Amino acid sequence: MNIAILGGTGKEGAGLGARWALAGHAIVIGSRDAGRAKTKAAELRELTQRMPIMGESNVEAARLGEVVVIALPAAGLAATLPEVRDGCRGKVVVSTVVPLTFGGPRLFTPPPAGSAAEEAQALLPEARLVAAFHHIAAHELVETDHAIECDLLLCGADASAKEAVAELGRSLGLRAIDVGPLTNAGPLEGITAVLATINRRYKLKNSGFKITGL
Ligand SMILES: NC(=O)c1ccc[n+]([C@@H]2O[C@H](COP(=O)([O-])OP(=O)(O)OC[C@H]3O[C@@H](n4cnc5c(N)ncnc54)[C@H](OP(=O)(O)O)[C@@H]3O)[C@@H](O)[C@H]2O)c1
Repeated sequence: MNIAILGGTGKEGAGLGARWALAGHAIVIGSRDAGRAKTKAAELRELTQRMPIMGESNVEAARLGEVVVIALPAAGLAATLPEVRDGCRGKVVVSTVVPLTFGGPRLFTPPPAGSAAEEAQALLPEARLVAAFHHIAAHELVETDHAIECDLLLCGADASAKEAVAELGRSLGLRAIDVGPLTNAGPLEGITAVLATINRRYKLKNSGFKITGL
């Protein structure tokens, strides 16, 4: 699968890119600055010893990806997504975005749409939005020599889009759990504030969720 990662120069996007490259996918790192994306792509090729990792502008990355992953801060959605709307038309688009406020207690600060994923869907109306990967810490992703200790919770309106994202999760060794429609993106994003608080309280970097009873 050819996976474009918008904001892939950041910790979360680069971590996902490294893991997916190791799983055999081709990666296009996106950035506001194509030069920065190419530098990050070169770093990830070195880290993973894998060739098909390239860097492009976010617009070009979205055009090239079969699946497009949004790994941008919530504050960057309104400026970035209108530019990539054409490139994302009809595609599976994954929002990893968590609108959290740091600097003291970790607070979920959702946009008026209810969640970052619903904001992304409104800005990319022809995309098949799936919200996922909020609970997989960048720190956990980058330690590529061990398995990720967490379930993948995902939601969205389109069953085949969710299955495609579940398969991308399984390629990283994750158990994928469908938690329903995109209106559940708010709870998924919001509970990440709990993980961030646990990390802070217990001096961790990678707390996660596992669902019991399945
Ligand atoms: N870090 C984690 O452990 C983690 C875990 C789960 C989910 N997430 C979510 O994943 C997303 C990315 O997290 P991150 O830690 O990788 O974030 P980040 O490093 O702060 O940002 C990722 C990239 O976004 C671009 N960017 C920054 N500000 C922007 C703006 N105002 N407009 C457009 N682009 C901007 C930057 O790339 P360029 O400057 O190259 O354009 C940056 O490298 C966030 O929404 C976060 O909530 C993070």
